[in-house]
Amino acid sequence: MRYSFILLYLLLYVQVSVAQEIDYDKFVDGLMRKMTLREKIGQLNLLPTGPVTTAYGQNEEIFEDVRRGDVGGVFNLRGVHDNTIIQRMAVEETRLGIPILFGCDVIHGYETIFPLNIALSCSWDMNAIEEMARISAREATASGIHWTFSPMVDICKDARWSRISEGAGEDPFLGAAVARAMVKGYQGNLDSIDEMMACVKHFALYGASEGGRDYNMVDMSCNRMFNEYMLPYKAAIDEGVSSVMVSFNDINGIPATANKWLLTDLLRKQWGFKGFITSDHSAVKELSNHSLGDEREVSAKALLAGVDFDMGSRSYVAQLENAVKCGLVSEADVDVSCRRILMVKAKLGLFENPYRFLDAKREKCELYSKANRAAARRIAAETFVLLKNANHLLPLSKSGRIALVGPLAHARTQMHGNWAVAAKNEKYSTIFEAMQQYLKGKAEVRYSKGSNYFYDEEMERRTWVNFSEQPHLNDSILLDDALRLAEWGDVIVAALGEPGDLSGESSCRTNLDMPDAQHDLLKALLATGKPVVLLNFAGRPTVMGWENAHVPAILHVWHPGSEGGAAICDVLFGDVSPSAKLTTSFPQSVGQEPFYYNHRATSRPQAKEKWFEKFRSNYIDCSNDAVYPFGYGLSYTTFEYSPVILSCNDICLDGGELTASVTVTNTGKYDAFEVVQLYLHDPVASITRPIKELKGFERVFLKSGESKVVSFKITTDLLKFYNANMDFVCEPGLFNIMIGTNSEDLQQVDFMVKE
Ligand code: BGC
Repeated sequence: MRYSFILLYLLLYVQVSVAQEIDYDKFVDGLMRKMTLREKIGQLNLLPTGPVTTAYGQNEEIFEDVRRGDVGGVFNLRGVHDNTIIQRMAVEETRLGIPILFGCDVIHGYETIFPLNIALSCSWDMNAIEEMARISAREATASGIHWTFSPMVDICKDARWSRISEGAGEDPFLGAAVARAMVKGYQGNLDSIDEMMACVKHFALYGASEGGRDYNMVDMSCNRMFNEYMLPYKAAIDEGVSSVMVSFNDINGIPATANKWLLTDLLRKQWGFKGFITSDHSAVKELSNHSLGDEREVSAKALLAGVDFDMGSRSYVAQLENAVKCGLVSEADVDVSCRRILMVKAKLGLFENPYRFLDAKREKCELYSKANRAAARRIAAETFVLLKNANHLLPLSKSGRIALVGPLAHARTQMHGNWAVAAKNEKYSTIFEAMQQYLKGKAEVRYSKGSNYFYDEEMERRTWVNFSEQPHLNDSILLDDALRLAEWGDVIVAALGEPGDLSGESSCRTNLDMPDAQHDLLKALLATGKPVVLLNFAGRPTVMGWENAHVPAILHVWHPGSEGGAAICDVLFGDVSPSAKLTTSFPQSVGQEPFYYNHRATSRPQAKEKWFEKFRSNYIDCSNDAVYPFGYGLSYTTFEYSPVILSCNDICLDGGELTASVTVTNTGKYDAFEVVQLYLHDPVASITRPIKELKGFERVFLKSGESKVVSFKITTDLLKFYNANMDFVCEPGLFNIMIGTNSEDLQQVDFMVKE
């Protein structure tokens, strides 16, 4: 029986393939005519699973679901071996033999792990970001994966939210550029087996969770939604992203997962999205926690809102048949979503060859290849932000004695942050190992852990510190050992900060300081009087006021990925000059959060001359300023900016444009990249506008002594915003152009838009 269906498909395929373009519609229509309601609902079920064989034997649960025909997609199962077993089951042991779609959280690399996404955004290098996505796609597809749950493009202005690590920071213009680069990199033309479908997430506004607490509610005006948050999602849609993942939060009081306005009216009708939509993990069932009804009711609501795949909650398979029977949804509603999933499988060629992506030889060659590792190393070096470098302490000399201290200096499992599902830790080097390898005996490097991550072992347990690699040891023994090593060293390199899982999903913090035990270690190291370089690890902006005041050199290295150790050496020892610039503001205090550079103008802004004045919008105990502002990052060299030159001083409202140019000169000794930034401000408008907004950037390479002209084209499109009527308009009048090296250090010129 089963084989006759397979034969039928093949025949159908031969028929449709005669035409140059395969008629997928016809094929899927034919298939759906044969499907029962239950089989159609099965296609909407997206299940997570661990390896096929576990320590406890075969993973029977997933086997049964697949054999019953109750599964359309499986996620986070990895590797040709395991995926082939499941695919074979679906194709050979179900009535219709419909192949499985394999999804995975390939977020910043696969087996070759790139830096965290927030770090990647700090490169401001869209080619590098596209390349990272391309390599991720090549590796993941070689491992049998068709679909990644990336890019995450949630704008986030609150460093307490741990998932700030997964996005591109606080700015929508930059976020949109990153979204486009990632979709392009993953998907290419989606016509070859090394390209994979992308999924833009979490739609929408997830980064605005109240209080910076994960899974929390969001409440936002339309003005803010469209002027500050929606642009990156829209950019991914316009770039042709295949799918969308819905966010956990509510919008205007309706959870996104049941929000028809969001998923159908806006996304599909207004924005023209043609792909498929998945819920987030268990979000369909959790609609009941949002008080939207029992499981049957919420399943119906999610389907009617537009959610095609039910990820992880099994609610659709449990409830939709019943919901059809009692008229909550119709079979036609199920058909719409089922059709979308089947179309995707057809377009991927899975009906022609369900094993297309399952080639063990390709997997062996592609994963963690030399070329991929070299790219990860090069790109990681582009993401380190030099926050301070007093007296040119960096770069370090390649001779002498280096005391490498800190729990992150020799921690194999903590280098790549929260999303590294295919990590092969045993293959990666720690910083200590990488440094020994890099210096090859030229300089001597010795290591001491110096402290635990936290004094409180329970905090380490919560952040999944790997105790078999780094057991919690006696604090004073650790410190004494580090201080002995410090005495020996000519220079101290301290690798401190957040362990890998102190950011990423569900690791929100109310305290953004360096973890207590490490902070005390740092103080003790500084007290030795030896020069100290801080390698600051974190998946978010942290509070660095004290460090900025006391530590001579600080390199913020985020979580740098599998090649992070080597990349850190490249920068530390001067082969590469740092060029990254922050894409999130670093606050002075957690009390300033949410904290971001592009806030709207207030009636009583902080005074320019002194930061506190009564009856102004300021705090009594802390200025409104950042320790390190958006766009900030130093280099080993210095750059000089000429005055800004405009091609004209006014443009007309109807499609006018001008060019703003600046000459940038590398006035220091190192060849280096500079990220030149353009900000615009609309000082007179019909609604309150941000005090400045990023509207252009260019990453230029300048040899020592070299000058280049950097020009930005400014069109009226760039000046548009959603007004009070939600019309997207450019309003005539005065505009300020600001160009410079970060969001604070800018030169301003003005121009007019005339009616
Ligand atoms: C996260 C998503 C992720 C999904 C699947 C969820 O908890 O919010 O970002 O893609 O799990 O792992």
